[in-house]
Amino acid sequence: ISRLNTRWLGQNLLYQDEVDSTNTWAKRAGEDGAPSGTVTVADVQTKGKGRRGKSWVTPRGTTIAMSLLIRPEFGPEQASMLTIVAGLSVAQAIAVETGLEAQIKWPNDVVVAGKKVCGILTEMSAQMGYIEYVVTGIGINVNTKEFSEEIKDVATSLFLESGRMYSRAALIAGVLERFEENYGRFLESGDLKLLLEDYQKLLINCKKEIKVLDPKGHYSGISHGINEKGELLVERTDGTMTRVFAGEVSVRGL
Ligand code: BTN
Repeated sequence: ISRLNTRWLGQNLLYQDEVDSTNTWAKRAGEDGAPSGTVTVADVQTKGKGRRGKSWVTPRGTTIAMSLLIRPEFGPEQASMLTIVAGLSVAQAIAVETGLEAQIKWPNDVVVAGKKVCGILTEMSAQMGYIEYVVTGIGINVNTKEFSEEIKDVATSLFLESGRMYSRAALIAGVLERFEENYGRFLESGDLKLLLEDYQKLLINCKKEIKVLDPKGHYSGISHGINEKGELLVERTDGTMTRVFAGEVSVRGL
């Protein structure tokens, strides 16, 4: 990528035509001692991974599949914040590169016109309270022209929303540049404080009614955005405020 304007992120950029999963590949690189900031990119994934054990389809040549390997100076409890940093960075990069209005669906998705255009999967390797590395995988539907019957009502691509084709290299560079900057602000305070204002502006349906599908019981409430730890604040009908952790629940209406 010629125009990549970062100091450390993606300066070690590994590309392969086809891999199992860029996340799995980045983890292998992590085990082999690759430096923090290594990015793995592939044209096709044969075993792309989504959240909750689902698979993630990467048709050849039309999507971005990349993973960021980071060796952080913080603890495991902060690792999920990288998903928040990534979601913000993707939404900002899409807006700048395409002019489309991209919004964040907490905690893992970026949507355009209410449909999912990007999914994020963060995995980490930690031992005894210490993180060895974190891998944040980002999948963006860029020039995809059609989706399978099962997902076509919930998924979209930048092409389908604008009728234009985009350079994947330019978008990758845009995401990495914004991620490096946002990550720097995250390290400054050790939490998401300095990113909250930008994040809430892009959060879909903030201050609207949502449904939280918690394994311990479903409930509805009004979303009040996230706090500095990346938890979603939900006001329940009885007026109490609940903090919802990513990973535990799924949210409808957001
Ligand atoms: C989800 O929404 O369920 C998360 C999808 C994450 C997909 C990306 S594509 C690049 C990276 N490699 C993977 O195997 N998964 C992530």
